[in-house]
Amino acid sequence: MKADSKKIADGVYWVGALDWDTRSFHGYQITGTTYNCYLVFGEDKVALIDNVFTGMSDQLYARIEDAFKKEGKDEVKIDVMIQNHSEADHTKCLGQTLEKFPEAKLYASPNCNKFLKLQYFELEDKEINIVKTGDELDLGGKTLTFFQAPMLHWPDSMFTMLLEDGILFSNDAFGQHVCLSERFDDEVDAGFLEYSAQKYYANLVTLGSPAVRRKLGEFADLGLLEKTKMIAPCHGQIWKNPETIIGYYQDWASGNCKEKITVIYDTMHHSTQKMAHAIAEGIMSEDVEVAMYFTQEDTGDDVITDVLDSKAIALGVPTMMNNPFPRIGNVMYWFNCVNFKQTSSIKKALVFSSKGWGGGAVKKLESDLEGAGFEIFDDLETVFTPTEDVLEQCYQAGKELAKAIKE
Ligand code: FEO
Repeated sequence: MKADSKKIADGVYWVGALDWDTRSFHGYQITGTTYNCYLVFGEDKVALIDNVFTGMSDQLYARIEDAFKKEGKDEVKIDVMIQNHSEADHTKCLGQTLEKFPEAKLYASPNCNKFLKLQYFELEDKEINIVKTGDELDLGGKTLTFFQAPMLHWPDSMFTMLLEDGILFSNDAFGQHVCLSERFDDEVDAGFLEYSAQKYYANLVTLGSPAVRRKLGEFADLGLLEKTKMIAPCHGQIWKNPETIIGYYQDWASGNCKEKITVIYDTMHHSTQKMAHAIAEGIMSEDVEVAMYFTQEDTGDDVITDVLDSKAIALGVPTMMNNPFPRIGNVMYWFNCVNFKQTSSIKKALVFSSKGWGGGAVKKLESDLEGAGFEIFDDLETVFTPTEDVLEQCYQAGKELAKAIKE
């Protein structure tokens, strides 16, 4: 196939793959993604940074060939391969690429070395050069230096920086699962890009928030934030304006939330739904932003995107067989997985439910939410259809929650 590379700096090219068709990445709903790889031409050596997912190698190889042509080189030869992370979306074609370029030396962090060999038995005897924070690799006028970045987002994660150009190849960190014709941040709508980066952070990075805070602190101490002119992640758009995404990460990792409440609900016969709508009215009466999620249609990966920068949630489902209506389970599992406490913020939770007779949902939801790091603010329970008095209580409860997050 024919596919073009994209020059991102002198002697540096994007040579990744566009996956227009994928709609789910381990349970996270997306509308395509990219597997970004980069080629760095030094005077002495050429380095390929990261690799691609199953079925994407034709694109990678076509773009590599194109980059060599653009550099005026007839022989396509890669001397160095850097693997910043071992997850399958960046490594499924690594073995095939090593066979295609047998002279290339492979570099990875100690954990990446271990994880690669646990996933790809054919690499068992492959010599991998282990690099750690501060190690450098001279390509001839282009110097790569490495920073281990454990839990950003796996224990093996590593950043590679091209010192002369100030380009940080950050692998998954700072990425977005989007697949667009444009490669750079400033070529697409800023609000769309922020939402995409937020969804990515919420789903893949929240648990590593302490590591984000530590790594950004280390970079600031070393004066590297000012030296970073571009961030080139492995998914989505390349940040020509790195301060934008660094600012977002500082906020998300530190629990800096908006005056915003996410309302999450489900219903069997419209009673809990009416309570949810009344609560939303009460919140809005205080000019606090509301994000509404009806879990009959909406999924946990979207819910947690808005919860990330909300100061509180209101969550309600009916009681069914003495328990919460089960569809909410998807959201509760996401809450447990990502653990918003890691962002240093404790979010308030208002719990509500309609029951027929015995009840049980409120108690269980409260216990689960406390377990996931939320602080219970209040609860409301009605029997069958909520009366006007109950709906008034819901409105007031929403208003009080909104007031509480503004204090
Ligand atoms: Fe994009 Fe952790 O892989």
